Parts: sequence; structure tokens; C-alpha cells
Amino acid sequence: MQKKLTIAIDGFSSCGKSTLAKALANKLDYVFIDTGAMYRAVAYYCLQKGFISNQHLNKEEIVNSLNEIEIHFEKNDVTRKLDVFLNDLNIESKIRTLEISELVSKIASIKEVRQKLVAEQQKMGIKGGVVMDGRDIGSVVFPSAELKFFVTASPEIRTERRFLELKPTEPEITKEEVKKNLVERDHLDSTRAESPLIQVDDAILIDNSNLNQEEQLELALKYVQERLI
Ligand code: DC
Repeated sequence: MQKKLTIAIDGFSSCGKSTLAKALANKLDYVFIDTGAMYRAVAYYCLQKGFISNQHLNKEEIVNSLNEIEIHFEKNDVTRKLDVFLNDLNIESKIRTLEISELVSKIASIKEVRQKLVAEQQKMGIKGGVVMDGRDIGSVVFPSAELKFFVTASPEIRTERRFLELKPTEPEITKEEVKKNLVERDHLDSTRAESPLIQVDDAILIDNSNLNQEEQLELALKYVQERLI
């Protein structure tokens, strides 16, 4: 039987990490885990409970409520993608909003939140045959992953892609708002004290500014084949 790799994909916000991770998992018949969705689920929970807003963050309440948060993924038979569940409620359609994007980096900078989610991610990927995307997968979650990618694209391209993604559900949104959020999140995610976003030495850099999805997948698959020999 062919061996099953652990593939770690890290990179900046809206750079196409999840698109690549999903496509790779599909092609290889591996499990895809979007760790950003897990941080978004915690942010959604904290927003519902009033522990966080644009103006405040109550770290004590957040940390004390972490054992009440259960997150898992289930396959959606219609979209054939994995939906994220928070305490058995499907919140997939609620976590990609600009409101959650504006709060999630603050939640992701809390040490206790990261400890909980990293432990769960390590459990989910323990058997290999997994493609996991996030900010700390190659550095903290699976430092010994057989294959690591660091994905990037120019801020303009990332803004355009994210804008087109959000526009159908948030018609009032402007490109300026989207760009501001991306730049702020990149800054917070790369400068936080707890496992900041870094490109680890053994990660392969993919700049997909001038690649379409098929080209990006083809490139990544070449590296997969090398590791499988
Ligand atoms: O991948 P995303 O944009 O959905 O992630 C949402 C936020 O969660 C992002 O701003 C940083 C944080 N995050 C993280 O700190 N570590 C991860 N492994 C994944 C996401």
C-alpha cells in the first residue's frame, strides 16, 4: 500500500491555501482540515456570548469557557465539502463574514485557545493521509510533516479574490475594507507572541499570484510525487 503523507500548508490570509489543500486532499483521497475554520468557530462562539466585540475582549471569560466548546467537521452531501460544527450546530455559513474575520486574529493570539485547538488538530491528523492548512501547521502542529508548503500571493490579488468571495453574501462590502482586514490580520498573525505565522526552513514556497488553481495543484502534486517515491 502506498504510504500516506502529512501535508502542511501555511501562509497569509486569503492566499489560496484552503483551495490548494482541498484540491490536494481530493486528488490524493486524504482528509482535508481547515484549521482557520476552527479559530473562526471559537471567535463566533465568543461573539455570540458577548466575550468579544470590536471594542473589547474578555480573555478570562474566553479561557474559562473553552471546555464548553466542541468543534468538529462533517461532510456536506450537497457541496461535498466539510462543514464546521460548533456544539453540534452547523455554523459553516456564519464564520466567513467580515465581522468574524475582524475578530478572529485576536482570538487566535490567546495561548489557551491555541493549546486546545492544536491538541485537537494533532489528534485529527495522527494517522497521516491528511492535508491541513493554517498558520502554524509546519511549525507547531506537525513540525515533522513530510511535505510543507508556504503559500503566498500579492496583497492586491488576495484582496481581489476575497472581495469576489464575500460580495455575493455581503453586497455592501468594499475592496478597501477587505484589503484593510487582510493587512491587519497578516500583521497580527505574523507578529503575535504565540506561534506566529512563519515560513519554516523546510517549507516549499508557492507564490500563486500568476498561477490558476489547476497550475497551482499541478505544481504541488509534483512535490507530492517526489515524497512518495
Ligand atoms: O485561514 P483563515 O483566514 O480562515 O484563518 C482565520 C484566522 O485564524 C487567521 O487570521 C489566523 C488564525 N489562524 C491561526 O492563527 N492558526 C491557524 N492554524 C489557522 C488560522
